[in-house]
Amino acid sequence: MQTKNIGLRNIEVADTKISAIDGINGKLIYRGYDILDLVKKSTFEETSCLLLNEDLPTKKTLDEFSKKLVDARQIPESLEKGLRDLPKTANPMDILQAMIAMMSVYDKEKGDDREANYNRAINLISMTPIIVAAWDRIRSGKEIVHPSKKLNHAGNFLYMLTGKEPDTEITRIFDICLILHAEHSFNASTFAAREVASTRAHMFAAVSAAVGALSGELHGGANYQVMKMLLEIGSEDKVEQWIKDKLAKGNKIMGMGHAVYKTFDPRAEVLRELSKRLSEKTGQPWYNITQRIEDVTEEEMKKIKGSDIFPNVDLYSASTYYMLGIPMDLNTPIFAISRVSGWTAHIIEEKFAEAAPKPMLYRPKAVYVGKYCGPSGCEYVPIEKRLVDV
Ligand SMILES: CC(C)(COP(=O)(O)OP(=O)(O)OC[C@H]1O[C@@H](n2cnc3c(N)ncnc32)[C@H](O)[C@@H]1OP(=O)(O)O)[C@@H](O)C(=O)NCCC(=O)NCCS
Repeated sequence: MQTKNIGLRNIEVADTKISAIDGINGKLIYRGYDILDLVKKSTFEETSCLLLNEDLPTKKTLDEFSKKLVDARQIPESLEKGLRDLPKTANPMDILQAMIAMMSVYDKEKGDDREANYNRAINLISMTPIIVAAWDRIRSGKEIVHPSKKLNHAGNFLYMLTGKEPDTEITRIFDICLILHAEHSFNASTFAAREVASTRAHMFAAVSAAVGALSGELHGGANYQVMKMLLEIGSEDKVEQWIKDKLAKGNKIMGMGHAVYKTFDPRAEVLRELSKRLSEKTGQPWYNITQRIEDVTEEEMKKIKGSDIFPNVDLYSASTYYMLGIPMDLNTPIFAISRVSGWTAHIIEEKFAEAAPKPMLYRPKAVYVGKYCGPSGCEYVPIEKRLVDV
């Protein structure tokens, strides 16, 4: 008998108070607050504080949280030296995963209580962008730009990456991108983080596992593929034929469709606006090309399958990041810079949730469909008598 639950689709495995997705109505809620409201009124710092706590912070709590984030903006010297010694061809996600695991060595917190984990979360949120920016500078043969203590989280990352302080509009656009990607319930990387945390492993082990899960192209890598598609298509007039050819060959169009949203992904709605603003600001064609991809894919899918398809978060984030001047292979690390807030909130929930049912070690069951030789097992054949290589 084969398992009915491949990929755990639609299997409820835990309670969470952190976020909710309504895939039918296209809503994403962080701790009770609509993401569309947060992108208008909040900042990444405040949203992270919201995710790590039960509600929106008071001014005092937010000030303390933001100060701790800024105070933690310092990469340990030996970690920086270690980065410089690595092969420049290394993938930024591999670097990030390794460096986050290494951060446990420098952890100043004692024990595994809630407060220690809250402080670890702040350190991780602060350090992730520093590692990503430092690695990009090192691999391109440039001097590392050390963090600024006067810029906000979004502005500081762009500053460390480029060496220039971004203007307020660019900073706000990136800030909104960070809010949008901060949390998305039990996606693959968050589940990986919670699973590791459920063994009582420390937060750095759980977050580095999450980075590993995010690195795969079925999860964090899709917006890189979208940008590759945009560059390959090159102009609006080539979109229709390109999409038709891909669909005729049975290929998927990256950035379209979602496993949970069966309507417009609310994050795509916001990113579409940001991509439009950046195209107008920079005079680049990527918004128009992306919009044409959306329209043609919708029309063609209706003809082929008779069903609707909608853009997901990756369709417009690709061109948004590209026009912010971010190297394409940093798209997934940027996802991590933001999602580390959600991961750490989930790790804390996994370790300390008080309401029943209490979390416990994840231990799903597999259906064995391998070799079977009867109840006493197969006969062990000595190596010299094994005739066939298996
Ligand atoms: C995300 C994704 C895996 C969800 O797939 P799903 O759960 O099978 O989605 P649906 O059930 O709505 O798909 C319905 C049909 O449309 C097809 N479809 C879905 N997304 C498609 C796409 N982007 N291009 C072409 N066809 C697509 C499916 O293959 C399925 O066809 P079938 O009925 O012949 O099997 C899928 O949409 C996809 O691969 N998208 C492109 C990759 C991407 O952008 N990933 C980032 C997600 S945030």
